Amino acid sequence: MNQVELIRALPKAELHVHIEGTFEPELMFAIAQRNQIQIPYKSVEEVKQAYNFHNLQSFLDIYYAGANVLVHEQDFYDLAWAYFEKCAEDHVVHTEMFFDPQTHTDRGVAFSTVINGLKRACADAKAKFGISSQLIMCFLRHLSEEAAFETLEQALPFKQDIIAVGLDSSEVGHPPAKFERVFAKAREEGFLIVAHAGEEGPPEYVWEALDLLKVNRIDHGVRSEEDEHLMARLINEKMPLTVCPLSNLKLCVVKDMKDHNIRRLLQKGVHVTVNSDDPSYFGGYMNDNFFAIQQALDLNNDELKQLAINSFEASFISDEEKQKWIAEIQKI
Ligand code: ADE
Ligand code: ZN
Repeated sequence: MNQVELIRALPKAELHVHIEGTFEPELMFAIAQRNQIQIPYKSVEEVKQAYNFHNLQSFLDIYYAGANVLVHEQDFYDLAWAYFEKCAEDHVVHTEMFFDPQTHTDRGVAFSTVINGLKRACADAKAKFGISSQLIMCFLRHLSEEAAFETLEQALPFKQDIIAVGLDSSEVGHPPAKFERVFAKAREEGFLIVAHAGEEGPPEYVWEALDLLKVNRIDHGVRSEEDEHLMARLINEKMPLTVCPLSNLKLCVVKDMKDHNIRRLLQKGVHVTVNSDDPSYFGGYMNDNFFAIQQALDLNNDELKQLAINSFEASFISDEEKQKWIAEIQKI
């Protein structure tokens, strides 16, 4: 089997995808029209031309503007359903999706509207495609600690539907330490913890995510390689990094995919996984990310299988399910 065939055949888990980042321009236009909301583009082509980012903030400005057309429960359902169709095509059999409630509640959309739409799509994806899923609620780190506490309060009635709490948005200038107390409360309430760190921010932010937020996974974390003590810690603790190659390329975290460190991290023994982040904005879903790194870094079949195995090991599914999927991969 060649590498392209193997990538398609491997069952995979996605652990780093923002559901608002799967919003394809065609669906954005359709929902904007039915909700009678103006968007600053005349055509799908014009939207795509605007996706010309030079850093994280230039992307986030456009990403939050796009999410403004989501108003009704059905809008959140349609958004998630379209993503599940991509999962089915790419043989993603399990996904742990981020959602950003503050992007919606700050516009007057109820927390329940967001989560009920997403949950209904998750149930239908299980029934129709056999895809399992979990939801991870993220705090927007450019907003205040107080706003994060309010969001956590709103999430408590839906505790059984949210596996973990995460931290995203503008990284530099908003270190994990800013949210130490709200993450302590989230842990007390029984949520697992993840956080974006070491995407644009320095290795110190990864240390803080580990020591202050007590994360179960680091999202991105690619800048950890700049600190050898941190690398030793990640390797010792088998701490997963949810790496997003096409995102790193689009947001100029790396200049060329040939410069991406995911293969080196894997070879050094870091528990790296492959993910799509915001696939509608960054040029591809799960398999496109695998194809891009395979081509640029010449990954062999054993490395590709290891990345797929890592995705299940780092996921929040039961040990029994992990073993089932890993056995499937080993049979290929
Ligand atoms: N929100 C959506 N995508 C993100 C990313 N790559 N980093 C931080 N926040 C985000
Ligand atoms: Zn992300």
